[in-house]
Amino acid sequence: MSMPQGSRTSSLLQKIQFLFRPLETLDNWHQEYGDTFRVLENELPAIIYFSSPEAIQRIFTADPEYLSSTQKSNVTKLLLGENSIIFLTDQHHQRQRRLLLPPFHSERMREYSQIICAITEEVISQWHPGKFFVVHSVMREISLRVILSVVFGLQAGNYYNQLRQMLSSLFETFDHPLSSILLLFLPVFQKDLETWSLQTNLMRQIQQINQVVYALIAERRLQDNPSTKDILSMLIEARDESGESMANIELRDSLLTLIFAGYETTASAISWALYWSHYLPEVQEKLLSELNPLIPARDKSEVARLPYLSAVCSETLRLYPIALNAFARVVQKPMEILGYQLEPETIVNVSIYLAHQREEVYHEPKSFKPERFLERQFSPYEYLPFGGGNRRCIGAALAQLEIKLVLATILSRLQLALITPRPIKPIRQGLIMMPPKFEMVVTGVR
Ligand code: HEM
Repeated sequence: MSMPQGSRTSSLLQKIQFLFRPLETLDNWHQEYGDTFRVLENELPAIIYFSSPEAIQRIFTADPEYLSSTQKSNVTKLLLGENSIIFLTDQHHQRQRRLLLPPFHSERMREYSQIICAITEEVISQWHPGKFFVVHSVMREISLRVILSVVFGLQAGNYYNQLRQMLSSLFETFDHPLSSILLLFLPVFQKDLETWSLQTNLMRQIQQINQVVYALIAERRLQDNPSTKDILSMLIEARDESGESMANIELRDSLLTLIFAGYETTASAISWALYWSHYLPEVQEKLLSELNPLIPARDKSEVARLPYLSAVCSETLRLYPIALNAFARVVQKPMEILGYQLEPETIVNVSIYLAHQREEVYHEPKSFKPERFLERQFSPYEYLPFGGGNRRCIGAALAQLEIKLVLATILSRLQLALITPRPIKPIRQGLIMMPPKFEMVVTGVR
């Protein structure tokens, strides 16, 4: 077989449908064409979606000589820099991963646990019954403060204030779902980076951030024995196999990549977790009965190991995955997947969303049921919120820790209620999916 069948609807219509109603569009394509289908039939290179565990295993375990990931967005390159791990391939990618991975090893998580809980406690410390808040804004604040602390070791002071303010206003540029779609997807807006005012504004903001980041790198390089063990310090000390350290520009691009990859994704996931634990009272009851005996827990990592809390976190990332697809992979040499002969340049998309919606793997896939994660284990080709293979998310352990600890800290301290308890569906925010804006109110203090 050469190509799977796919939608014959006009390319423009397919793009619009996928941009504005991505979940419904994926469900429709799946219903009509099955697990494997081609989209934008008239365009080359061919774009193929896969969602069965067999195909995903083949893709995630393929030799990068045959299948490699490439990111093309100019705006993303402008933000993260050419040395960002997401633009690197082959041995450059492997080298960068080896340098970046140690700060995310499990022994670092104990320290990050303290940071996450302290920041959450501080953010909610002044809250009293009757306080209203927009969930996503608060989760963004927590997520940004955690990432500034974990990545740069910053919790206060000049650099901290500058970066916090600059990054918040940069993220505001992407705040409106439409502006992020335009910036990231439509090539016409990416052509003239110099003249289009939104992008000129973006470049100015990035230059300001660069100044602070380079100043921080220079300062940290001068410290012989930095007291903090943040990711920046660890990356400055890191050496590759030939004893080379990272150049300033590589450090800058890596730091910005970690912030961009980790900030909004984690904030969205925590917002969902808070939503589900209040929209479904039985979920909250079970969480509280697991958490209560541990309050106040001395060892935060003990909290992060709680089975039901972990299951809630897993189910949150299953039902509405923050990334609908893994990074696109591109065929480098002719190869076969599920009997399809794929030519070089074919784009291979693993649909995380459709993989998580498979009836035979997940009973009642459209329902939020954390118990499924207590009843059985899923393979990395059935459950893949963080992608897989040699591109698997570097921050997966940190993100899961943060979702669990922020949720546990808030539930242990406060009684909350949704202002409008109603079913909600994710909306697109640039490259990720997030819950639409919703509000909560503090109804009591525990
Ligand atoms: C809930 C939160 C998060 C989700 C759902 C998520 C999801 C993903 C996904 C789907 C990928 C692509 C993997 C693939 O194509 O196979 C990815 C890559 C990546 N993520 Fe995350 N991520 C999250 C949080 C984080 C955090 C907290 C960090 C770091 C602080 C991070 C850093 C990265 C990096 C550096 C890559 C690129 C890896 C590579 O190209 O080798 N992510 N993430």
